[in-house]
Amino acid sequence: MIWLGIESSCDETACAILKDENGHVEVLSNPLYSQIKEHAVFGGVVPEVAAREHLQKISSITSEAVEQSGLSLKDIDAIAFTTGPGLMGPLLVGASFARGLAKDLNIPAYGMNHLEGHLAAAWLTAQDLEPPFLTLTVSGGHTELVLEEPGFKYTSLGRTRDDAAGEAFDKCGKLLGLQYPAGATIGRLGKDGNRKFHRFPRALKGDDSGEFSFSGLKTAVRRYTETNSPEFIQENLGDICASLEEAIVDILVSKTVWALKKTKMKSLVVGGGVSANARLREVLGNYCERHGIRLCFPDRSLSTDNGAMIAAAAIRRVRQNLLHDIPEVKPWMPLAE
Ligand code: KG4
Ligand code: ZN
Repeated sequence: MIWLGIESSCDETACAILKDENGHVEVLSNPLYSQIKEHAVFGGVVPEVAAREHLQKISSITSEAVEQSGLSLKDIDAIAFTTGPGLMGPLLVGASFARGLAKDLNIPAYGMNHLEGHLAAAWLTAQDLEPPFLTLTVSGGHTELVLEEPGFKYTSLGRTRDDAAGEAFDKCGKLLGLQYPAGATIGRLGKDGNRKFHRFPRALKGDDSGEFSFSGLKTAVRRYTETNSPEFIQENLGDICASLEEAIVDILVSKTVWALKKTKMKSLVVGGGVSANARLREVLGNYCERHGIRLCFPDRSLSTDNGAMIAAAAIRRVRQNLLHDIPEVKPWMPLAE
């Protein structure tokens, strides 16, 4: 079966062709158009600008995906697109395009949950993995620990009370003078930095819950930039980024360890843009190795938003015979209630 996956929930217009054959899924193509340049001048994503950009690019990115796969439009058997959570305008563009194309090709179109997509990206690297397992979603809009049981039964163990982990990277980065989105830049600048240069706060760490809070970190970084000269910040940027990254990773890992102990799960699936972070991979990897826990991260290229993860989410549902039963996702909905 050949799938077209379409993702347009935020600032990435992404399409992919996936082949599901003999029980194995292969990504044949996965091009995307990133709108980052359009939004960078505003320091964050502007929904109206994003919707317009999607509208201008979605058709050509779809053609590119089909072309790169070596197939043609008529080979596609089904379309999966994102229905939420995400920005209303961008989601509407993707949904209208997907439904229109599906009607034209006389094939079905399925609306998928973006967060389920992020987790499905990790599943692509571990296709034999069966629920139950613990999941950690760390994206620009969400930070949540969810237990997944067979039949896509989700139980939330806690989520952020304010900013998401990716948002913390982006907002703290902005305070340090870095361009949006700052997560990958902070990872790069802090790679060889001193992680103990400054101790930024770890809110709610050790509070016996799965809840997160990152807004205090932002305040701490603001205070830090106000009490230190711009020259000092510039001179020590690598160490400051390393210390900031350490604080975020420390919170994420300690909460995940808490949830692993609470649920007694032996597998952990991580998804979302922040799952590209090398330090998070290293620290979680060490813990899981020591404790015999199977750890599934997406391929680095599939950590941030892409079309392949949306098709993969649909394929996971097909495997469990649950595609007919996809819950309707609203743009503001989390993965689990
Ligand atoms: O999942 P995603 O692509 O979009 C949403 O669904 O929100 O996540 C984007 C977020 C941004 O906040 C970005 O700064 C962060 O993921 N991010 C990273 C890295 N790459 C992307 N954060 C930390 N380290 C990275 N390497
Ligand atoms: Zn995302």
